[in-house]
Amino acid sequence: MRMYDVIAKKRNGEILREEEIRFMIEGYVKGDIPDYQMSAMLMAIYLKGMSDEETAILTDAVAHSGDMVDLSQIEGIKVDKHSTGGVGDKTTLVVAPIVSACGVKVAKMSGRGLGHTGGTVDKMEAIPGMRTTLTEEEFFSVVNATGLSVIGQSGNLAPADKKLYALRDVTATVDSIPLIAASIMSKKLAAGNDCILLDVKTGSGAFMKTLEDSITLAEKMVAIGEHSGKKTMALITNMDIPLGSLIGNSLEVIEAVETLQGKGPEDLTEVCLSLAAGMLFLAGKGSLEECRKLAEKTIEDRSALMKLAAMVEAQGGDPAVIKDPSLFVRAPFEKEVKALKSGYITHMNTEQCGIASSLLGAGRITKESQIDYTAGIALKKKVGQKVEEGETIALLYASKRDLFADAEEELLKAVAIGGQKPDQGPLIYARVTGAGVERLV
Ligand code: URA
Repeated sequence: MRMYDVIAKKRNGEILREEEIRFMIEGYVKGDIPDYQMSAMLMAIYLKGMSDEETAILTDAVAHSGDMVDLSQIEGIKVDKHSTGGVGDKTTLVVAPIVSACGVKVAKMSGRGLGHTGGTVDKMEAIPGMRTTLTEEEFFSVVNATGLSVIGQSGNLAPADKKLYALRDVTATVDSIPLIAASIMSKKLAAGNDCILLDVKTGSGAFMKTLEDSITLAEKMVAIGEHSGKKTMALITNMDIPLGSLIGNSLEVIEAVETLQGKGPEDLTEVCLSLAAGMLFLAGKGSLEECRKLAEKTIEDRSALMKLAAMVEAQGGDPAVIKDPSLFVRAPFEKEVKALKSGYITHMNTEQCGIASSLLGAGRITKESQIDYTAGIALKKKVGQKVEEGETIALLYASKRDLFADAEEELLKAVAIGGQKPDQGPLIYARVTGAGVERLV
């Protein structure tokens, strides 16, 4: 078989056979197929798409390119969660402790920040001493002892995805539905959980900017999960506005803790409770309404907060900062961003908000960049709120004053102010299961 012919076939819009898809993934991981040929194939897939069957085979080939984790040493049903990526998305730090406080084990592998989006592993590393690389034995023993563990992806989990993702990032082929579905679901299948709850973000801060594309992506991922014998559900959630008020690594841990204390922002609390209810439902804990009540109770009685502290301690982190988040080291410098005119905030380009946070040091500008855990943004006003000219709309935090100018410019570009109070978009648009799409608005 020649890669040239497989590329030409996809370029012509034909359906690839199973052996062709497996040949290209195996050859690419081994180094027999060079980046320039795989780049051409990715662009052909981007432009011509893939059938559901091709996407399922691609997912399976990528999942089997490395280790398939066996979680059988952890007793009970294990539920995974995955967000397609957003700004201010600290939901894993809230949802995993809630689900585990309800008696369902969470053994989760998370990622680092990608582009303008933040990553759970980077946020966890903002906790002093916290280890996110554990051996398999340590991982299992933390889950068995505390009920949950969140770590970085092990080195050999879906290595084909690592190579493909890096290539997509530089060949303008990231936002392709079959490629995103295969990338996410290959890692979920390799991670070995019984059930998968997908948080598919939609809007200006998400990879999928429109609701219809987000629903299509969710349907494809749910079909792949169900086909592989995993109970899978997706919620389509709003990423047209940053989630919560804090963006940046230690800032987001602080907001996650406040949410577990019952003092979190309404939007973040609502999305977290819905995600947690979905995970508990998949694990067989009752109806969605019953699961929602179970989740709420773990915030009221602080059992979820205790779970987070227990996981942090078991992974070498300092639980004191979870009990008292004011102990987090703060950025040495802060700057107020003021409204340029009076009116209502009508829109926040959420991708630009994420870029502004990265410019302050909270994300990586290049692959080699070191993250500044203290850097980030505290939003003082969000969409729908009234502002007066000169009023503070956000506080920027950084370790160097000269980072403020570019970040402030980016944030001001992101915030639109107009005369009319805008309608607030819904937080959760739809639920997607094997049975179909249930629109919630
Ligand atoms: N997250 C992933 O893991 N892969 C994608 O392609 C997009 C978001």
